[in-house]
Amino acid sequence: MFGPLDLLVPPILLFCTVLTLPFTLLLLPVTGRAGDLASIAKIRNAWFKHLWAWFGPGSKPIFAPRVQPIVSQAKGVCIDVGPASGIWLKELGDVVRRGAITKIYGVEPNPNFQADLRKNAAKYGLEKVYQPIQAYVQDLEKFGVAKGSIDTIITVHVLCSVGDHSDQICKDLYDYLKPGGQWLVYEHVVARFAVTRAWQKLLNLSWPILLDQCELLRDTESVLRNAGEWAAVDLRPSPGDGWFQGLPHVEGKLIKAG
Ligand SMILES: *[C@@H]1O[C@H](CO)[C@@H](O)[C@H](O)[C@H]1NC(C)=O
Repeated sequence: MFGPLDLLVPPILLFCTVLTLPFTLLLLPVTGRAGDLASIAKIRNAWFKHLWAWFGPGSKPIFAPRVQPIVSQAKGVCIDVGPASGIWLKELGDVVRRGAITKIYGVEPNPNFQADLRKNAAKYGLEKVYQPIQAYVQDLEKFGVAKGSIDTIITVHVLCSVGDHSDQICKDLYDYLKPGGQWLVYEHVVARFAVTRAWQKLLNLSWPILLDQCELLRDTESVLRNAGEWAAVDLRPSPGDGWFQGLPHVEGKLIKAG
């Protein structure tokens, strides 16, 4: 967007993240959750929630022109992976009203997001269709979601943050797809330009710690291509991502082999 100035986007986000920490630490005791301060994992979950509470909606106008056409292709029974507070539920609501979607499982392991996720599902008229599930993808069968039963998997800004097991998680998600089912993707990935990639490596020293284990350098396109056998792979770098884009994206869809 802004040439080399694009390199500044990730450090600005890191700076905002650091500013959010004191609020998180103050709010936990005020909201009766002082006990959570004893657990790094619980602090991290709450911290990410407070960051996302303003960064999610705040950054939405930047991403919406790319994400809206992708999520609007959703159909049938869907898994919305890691929706956080449900940033894209308005767009999914439009598809539901068109009659293309019958059911959405919103799989979000962070307990801090559950209340907002339910609230947003109701706000956009999705309460009958959208079922929030507080779980990890690998536990979905316990919630009655059968392998090979899903028409659409939606991953927007989530595969960066699934820890070291992204290969296995994508294989698990692949198993839930029906033959011919589609996987809709908008994810930030490792930079193709060496200078930007070196910059990402440097930022990565603090990035996963500050952003709830988000991985700046993941080659998500390869992970997805290797998740299983595909009838079609239509993935491309997001148009408009310049050479210096510190958070370049891959977007598009994959269709499971029949
Ligand atoms: C980024 O940082 C994380 C956490 O320190 C580390 O596990 C990962 O290997 C790093 N990635 C790269 C490509 O250096």
